[in-house]
Amino acid sequence: MGYLEDRAGLAGKVAVVTGGAGGLGWPIARDLARAGAHVAICDRDADALTAIAPEITAFPVKSLLRRADVREPEAMAAFFAEIDETFGRIDILVDVPGGGFVAPLMDTNAKGWNAIIRQNFLYVLDTTQHAVRRMKAQGSGGSIIYVTSVEAHRAVPNRAVYGAMKAGVTNLAKTLALELGADRIRINTVAPDIFPTAASGGLSPETLGSPESMLSAKMTVPLEHFGAGEELSGCVLFLASDLAGYVTGTTLHVDGGTYASSGWFNWPDAGWVNTVPPETLDFLVSGSD
Ligand SMILES: NC(=O)c1ccc[n+]([C@@H]2O[C@H](COP(=O)([O-])OP(=O)(O)OC[C@H]3O[C@@H](n4cnc5c(N)ncnc54)[C@H](O)[C@@H]3O)[C@@H](O)[C@H]2O)c1
Repeated sequence: MGYLEDRAGLAGKVAVVTGGAGGLGWPIARDLARAGAHVAICDRDADALTAIAPEITAFPVKSLLRRADVREPEAMAAFFAEIDETFGRIDILVDVPGGGFVAPLMDTNAKGWNAIIRQNFLYVLDTTQHAVRRMKAQGSGGSIIYVTSVEAHRAVPNRAVYGAMKAGVTNLAKTLALELGADRIRINTVAPDIFPTAASGGLSPETLGSPESMLSAKMTVPLEHFGAGEELSGCVLFLASDLAGYVTGTTLHVDGGTYASSGWFNWPDAGWVNTVPPETLDFLVSGSD
């Protein structure tokens, strides 16, 4: 084992990844298995689970793949009971699922709010309780990582409830860091910005190399490209590992620098400015005549 693997201590740990068969969940689950952790994955997408099965079972670790919707408490109870039977412990929990529809708050209603609250917040309470009960009983600590969003840290027009729930998860992590510190259970969040996935809308992985997409990334992202799954999973692995043994209640912003650049755009010719450059304004005004 190399120096870094030794320091990370992931080999032989048991990791649970909800939503681990697709989108940003699969690179996380795959990298945990690559690092030698045993993995329990649940996902609501049966086809995605079938697609990842050959690769995950080829790693020299134990794996458990289950079709289950995180919003259904009975399904989660059954999933965690099966984890007990298969692995007998839990060291790491990564909660991935999230998202919701786009509409101004005034055009939405309680049914829609409840759907977003269940998909982004309520299930996190449920999986956390399942994992923490086991981690406390084991007495050897643990690491919990919630995938939130840059939207937890800024305004989110037309996705108010989503942003509020991601902010809620962020604050939950801070509070739990205090409640569970004595048990050496660490709780942190990773906050991605634009990572093209099937669920992220607009940008598909296929269109990433187009001139429009590349210009858009150059103008909005200090690192000049949109995120790739491995760029998020590397940070999740760090937080899951002993390398982050003194890190709890905090957020790792995995966004190419967009949280830092809030309000600043790298305009062609003008460079980084936080207003619309005069020549662009002239163009927009004359173009609207
Ligand atoms: N992709 C982005 O650009 C982006 C940006 C910021 C934040 N995020 C956050 O990252 C996380 C992952 O996003 P994503 O783009 O991978 O999409 P996603 O969360 O919809 O999908 C990830 C995986 O979770 C599964 N999943 C979704 N809902 C589920 C449920 N209710 N029960 C079980 N499995 C479920 C999906 O089938 C998929 O395999 C989300 O929390 C999202 O809010 C994503």
